[in-house]
Amino acid sequence: MNTEHNFFAPGRVNLIGDHTDYNGGLVLPVALSMGTYLTLSERDDNLCSFSSDNEQADFEIGETEMSKPHDCWVDYPLGVIKEFADRGYHFHGYNFHFRGNLPIGAALSSSASIEMVTAFALNALADNHFSTLELVKMAQHAENDFVGMNCGIMDQFASGFGKDGHAIALDCNTLNYEYVPLALDGLRFVICNSKKKRGLVDSAYNQRRQECEEALHILQQLVPIQHLCQLNMEQFQELSSQVSDQFSDTVLRRARHTISENERVKEAVQSLRKHDMTHFGQLMNASHASLRDDYEVSCPELDFLVEYAQQFEGVLGSRMTGAGFGGCTVTLIAENKIERFIEELGKAYEKKFGMEMEGYDS
Ligand code: GLA
Repeated sequence: MNTEHNFFAPGRVNLIGDHTDYNGGLVLPVALSMGTYLTLSERDDNLCSFSSDNEQADFEIGETEMSKPHDCWVDYPLGVIKEFADRGYHFHGYNFHFRGNLPIGAALSSSASIEMVTAFALNALADNHFSTLELVKMAQHAENDFVGMNCGIMDQFASGFGKDGHAIALDCNTLNYEYVPLALDGLRFVICNSKKKRGLVDSAYNQRRQECEEALHILQQLVPIQHLCQLNMEQFQELSSQVSDQFSDTVLRRARHTISENERVKEAVQSLRKHDMTHFGQLMNASHASLRDDYEVSCPELDFLVEYAQQFEGVLGSRMTGAGFGGCTVTLIAENKIERFIEELGKAYEKKFGMEMEGYDS
């Protein structure tokens, strides 16, 4: 039997800072212990086969079909293979078998973890020619260009650079980052999966990006900025009032979310460093309100989970996480309350929406 090689890349939960990454802002994700495993083995022929424990369809693909999308999960590894091919590395004759324990399409970066595990595996075949940062950029580019989802860099970065027991404070403009220890002292971040399918997430996501670009263009008439997150709230309020006739209400709110969220991440990083988790929780609550009201990427299921959590004894803060429109929430809660929280919230959620919520410890 041909030798097998095993690789792993984690998913992530973003603690705060959503829809800031493509606006040159800050994010604060944590890599999860859940993720995607890849077993790579050589074949005796020139085909590549792709299979997954999570998906029905297996693929056996020759070189010509590898460079075009198939409109399904196999595009994640194929997009990364194309990135390597564009740099002169060609891999034929391998079996790629994926396994994972991340819920799929639940805003915990299952797709980024497939891309990153493929990138790690191919890099091993390429004698580790590429740095982790290069692999992260190749994976993001694969998702933008090959898969067609115009995402920012947060998910691939968190999957590539995740470190146990730490959040990553990443500046998505400079790509400077710091690991911030999660010294939680009797508290935990708990993830609740609404199981709400995220229907039109790609088109709504791309539309939000366009609205932010529109806001940027208006503001660029007044200041030479490259990204919305170069402004603080005070500057934004001052500048936007000078060109208020050019802003639609929607575009103004999109920009306000982006810039206020960026400020919240800055404060959240300081709170985490100072162990001021009460304030961290308040920032999470404010972040959810802004994503719901200004950015309009929440949904009734996520709002219910968050509002219930915010009332629950022992909870310091709760918010939706990731792109939105479904997926998961993240809640900061006293460790000894978790069991009762998951049980009671699960019951209330099922009663209201007829769906079973799932809870995970981050
Ligand atoms: C998705 C994208 C990220 C980021 C988040 C929202 O997860 O892949 O780049 O924009 O949404 O914060």
